Amino acid sequence: MKILPDVALTYDDVLLVPQFSDIPSRRKLSTQTRLTPAITLQIPIVSANMDTVTEAEMAIAMARHGGIGIIHRFMPIEEQVAQVERVKRAESFVVEEPITLTTRHTVGDARRMMEETGTGGILILDENGRLVGIVTSRDMLFEQDDRRPLTEIMSRNLITAPPGTTLQEAAAILHRHRIEKLPLVDEQGALVGLITLKDILKITEFPKATKDAKGRLAVGAAVGVKERELKRVEALLEAGADCIVVDIAHGDSQLEIEMIRAIRRHFPQAQIIGGNVATAEATQRLIDAGADAVKVGVGPGSICITRLVAGAGVPQLSAVMECAAVARPQGIPIIADGGIRTSGDIVKALAAGASTVMIGSLLAGTDESPGLMMTRKGHRYKVSRGMASLQANIARKIREGEGWITQEEIEDYVSEGVEAAVPYRGPVREVLTQLVGGLQSGMSYCGAHSVDELYEKAVFVRITPAGWKESQSHDVEVL
Ligand code: XMP
Repeated sequence: MKILPDVALTYDDVLLVPQFSDIPSRRKLSTQTRLTPAITLQIPIVSANMDTVTEAEMAIAMARHGGIGIIHRFMPIEEQVAQVERVKRAESFVVEEPITLTTRHTVGDARRMMEETGTGGILILDENGRLVGIVTSRDMLFEQDDRRPLTEIMSRNLITAPPGTTLQEAAAILHRHRIEKLPLVDEQGALVGLITLKDILKITEFPKATKDAKGRLAVGAAVGVKERELKRVEALLEAGADCIVVDIAHGDSQLEIEMIRAIRRHFPQAQIIGGNVATAEATQRLIDAGADAVKVGVGPGSICITRLVAGAGVPQLSAVMECAAVARPQGIPIIADGGIRTSGDIVKALAAGASTVMIGSLLAGTDESPGLMMTRKGHRYKVSRGMASLQANIARKIREGEGWITQEEIEDYVSEGVEAAVPYRGPVREVLTQLVGGLQSGMSYCGAHSVDELYEKAVFVRITPAGWKESQSHDVEVL
């Protein structure tokens, strides 16, 4: 047995000492950072790979606003792949595989395809694969006869452009002809892509969006550590996942290390995030195994009871400081995962050396999280649950087709998480606006022009419970 000499601290144990600032406008401060060496984010926020937090809708919203979402792994491979594909289809510079039908199809076929894919326009090809027409939902509006051939209702006067057309050129053509879709056609008349007005407008609507090289929204996906999970990794990368999170509660383990090594060996280009760990030694082990970023946090999460059940963990601020001290000099970003309740916590996590924070429950209450809204005593809530909770385990079994959990399994299950109601918080955009605004204020108080400078300039002061009490609104009744 040994006992470490230092006291470990968490967010509420410290404050950041205000420093001289020459920042004229805090709202203009850049919050750009890196998730991994190859993935840049405009806001340092990652939505957690939990089944009450991140599926496609959340991932789309996170990426549009400059962060990223990690699709959880508690579903069959095909379902997780479909979630990644949904994010990837949400927008792009050029749609590489536009939705098409042929001259042999009917109005009924087009109607079904529009419903299934959510698209409002289908390109029509002849038997040689040449583009000959377009059918839009407007063309179908008053069509009663589903058996009618598409050739009778499609528009044949197509405006097209050659491959390599830039977005600016495309925007000008779309505007000039008052159209919404611009097919790209090569010299032989073959369809090679599609640029849509919707995608062009998204670029101006979400200037901070996190995108891949093809202009598609970025998304991560979580996998487990069992060997069979390599299949999941392969399918997710194929679907376009930008990073893989090797997700286990105790990441300082042989299983985690072997999985990271195997992914690195089979998919050398993959961006791999390892975790969760809470010590410098564990961070180094994951880096040595091949991790591009390390997720830190054992037990700080709002729905975690690991520290009560297992007696193990490290208060989060100290854990982040220790792990970052090892990882930063090697160019490996740290993700501070769990326990973020306010924008002030984000400032402290980044000042301690993290490059991003992962958030669960705070985002579980938004419109974009999976799960239903409930009303209790006139207030609206959504559910957040630990992935090691009994409820999450039951849900996973049902979703993965393993059937219902038995009474014996329930009695044997040792839960390390709870299920909880979290207040409904509206759209993700509103929550992120508050969090990022608070972060910019924190950076300004530290005189920091960037996230990196925040780490360099930050000076923490330890506070007493009285200091913490004073830090909150007090001696008033908050309205
Ligand atoms: P917050 O505080 O943002 O934390 O809700 C989210 C993080 O909590 C972790 N997590 C768990 N930890 N038991 C645990 O000890 C669990 O059942 C559990 N589920 C999630 C995870 O790291 C997540 O990102």
